[in-house]
Amino acid sequence: MLKGKKIVLGVTGGIAVYKAADLVSKLRKEGAQVRVVMTEAAAEFVTPLTFKEISGNAVAVNMWEKHREFNVEHISLAEWADYLVIAPATANILAKAAAGIADDLLSTVILAARSPIVFCPAMNSQMYVNPATQSNLKKLQEYGCVIMPPASGFLACGTTGVGRLPEPAEIISFLRRHIALKTGDLTGLKILITAAGTREPLDPVRFVGNRSSGKMGYAVAQAAAERGAEVVLVSGPSALQPPPYVKVVNVETTREMMEAVLTEYAAADVVVKAAAVADYCPREVADQKIKKSTDEPLTVVLEKNPDILKRLGELKKHQFLVGFAAETQNLLANAAEKIQKKNLDMIVANDVTLAGAGFNCDTNVVRFLFPDGTARSLEKMTKFEVANRLLDEVKAAINK
Ligand code: CTP
Repeated sequence: MLKGKKIVLGVTGGIAVYKAADLVSKLRKEGAQVRVVMTEAAAEFVTPLTFKEISGNAVAVNMWEKHREFNVEHISLAEWADYLVIAPATANILAKAAAGIADDLLSTVILAARSPIVFCPAMNSQMYVNPATQSNLKKLQEYGCVIMPPASGFLACGTTGVGRLPEPAEIISFLRRHIALKTGDLTGLKILITAAGTREPLDPVRFVGNRSSGKMGYAVAQAAAERGAEVVLVSGPSALQPPPYVKVVNVETTREMMEAVLTEYAAADVVVKAAAVADYCPREVADQKIKKSTDEPLTVVLEKNPDILKRLGELKKHQFLVGFAAETQNLLANAAEKIQKKNLDMIVANDVTLAGAGFNCDTNVVRFLFPDGTARSLEKMTKFEVANRLLDEVKAAINK
């Protein structure tokens, strides 16, 4: 998403300048071109040479220096940029930008910019919460600038509070999300995704569960968020890190998943039910750990859980419903039956016995089936690629 993007990074004078060097490095790894403009105060913290080496481009600090690449430098930099990112942005640069003051190279570039401008404020907490700074931030937002909220934590001045520059990886996520919302093909869609397996407790330490890792559902959540959708991920227990800019609702049992999904259902445009839902739960849940007291076999009576997807099919209004069918035999017949039984608009069928498919692996081999009997088979690909192909199908179907 940042590949080929031209980014002018404005660096102002705060202790977080060192993080800006890492940000340049990460932006370049994403494929962006970066030109750095530093204020003179920033150059007191880290030398322009550092940024020159990391960005691969000359660093501009002073209005009156001669630079071979640019004629009227502030204008050419402003015109070159697809994005102008100010990180760290001090209270001083926020105040100057809000007031339209242009008394050095960076503030002049900001005033001349035609590209989106993203400010990443970083300063002492008191300076940040000061009404003057807050009013400047508000004004900049009114002017169409984007503000990335600072993080909280230990600050260089020895206090703890709000005002830290977020980590470079978080700034990159923020930029990617901003671009996705502006240009993504799923912007405006609300997508509800379920992932991972549900667990049904037997006693305080044991549960009945399944082998689902959550990889497929998390991949759909990541792909949808990167394409600009508003994503809610209802997840059973999973070791995976949820993708950024996704609302996560953690659940454990099938009934908890049902409740969370029903709460989000009315507002959803699309539902992708990738979770491996436990169909049964123990009738009795012991209050205390079950002891192995005798040599007799232990009998656990399982009773049926609700079928969440079937319920969604019954309640369906405008929603586009995508189910999954993980099968070990009669793949197509079983999947086709689930489309009818659960009133689905599409099902993703996979034979979990195939190599490179199913639980806990990074690839999958799936077929998409539709209510009119059409089917599309995909070759083996990563779960992230499957997720994007799935979303392509959803988009094509809802735009019909
Ligand atoms: N599903 C659900 N609630 C359940 C069981 C399944 O919402 N109690 C959803 C799954 O998330 C999946 C689809 O229904 O999208 C199919 O799940 P699957 O386990 O393949 O099928 P089942 O309907 O449970 O039928 P069976 O286990 O008999 O194959």
